[in-house]
Amino acid sequence: MKLGILGSGKGSNFAAILLAIRKGDLDVEVALVASDVADSGILKLAEEADLPTYVIEEPRYRTRLSPEVEERLVAALQAAGVELVVLAGYMRVVKSPLLDAFPRRIINIHPSLLPAFRGVAAWEQALAAGVATAGCTVHYVDAEIDTGEILAQAEVPVHPDDTAETLHARIQAQEHHLYPAVIRQLAKANR
Ligand code: GRF
Repeated sequence: MKLGILGSGKGSNFAAILLAIRKGDLDVEVALVASDVADSGILKLAEEADLPTYVIEEPRYRTRLSPEVEERLVAALQAAGVELVVLAGYMRVVKSPLLDAFPRRIINIHPSLLPAFRGVAAWEQALAAGVATAGCTVHYVDAEIDTGEILAQAEVPVHPDDTAETLHARIQAQEHHLYPAVIRQLAKANR
């Protein structure tokens, strides 16, 4: 199965996916790594790994792409033969050009036990709410934010002395196991 990875940030989930592939634990190919942030860590990781990259240029909006920009991204993903779009810290809302081109073929990882704590800095929301258990969710992407069908979740405890940083780090460590595991299941089902 060919993956198209979309990210805006440091790319630690992408790094975990790459590591799983290199260790022989994940039989997929990264066909394209796209980012809306030209100097993002995720693009640097892709370049270091000699993988094809694509910079999404969006001068107009901060939270989404213009339809024509998203259509160009779709064309690049399709030209690379992408079968599954993997959002890995992609900070834009996905709109209809991408959703329509990859129905039930776009997944995301979110740092909470959805449906709790949708949106930004979910681990801070969890801390503020005083929950005893936090975690992460892999889900299909639909037209809303963090609402698509849930594929898998992993829990982590919240410690009494947790800060936003320590809780986020504990959640991310789980993300790095969960995301490759879910992609492995989807790749098996794709064969
Ligand atoms: C992760 O915490 C993920 O849950 C959220 O964005 C973050 C991406 O981190 N959607 P990274 O770029 O993979 O390190």
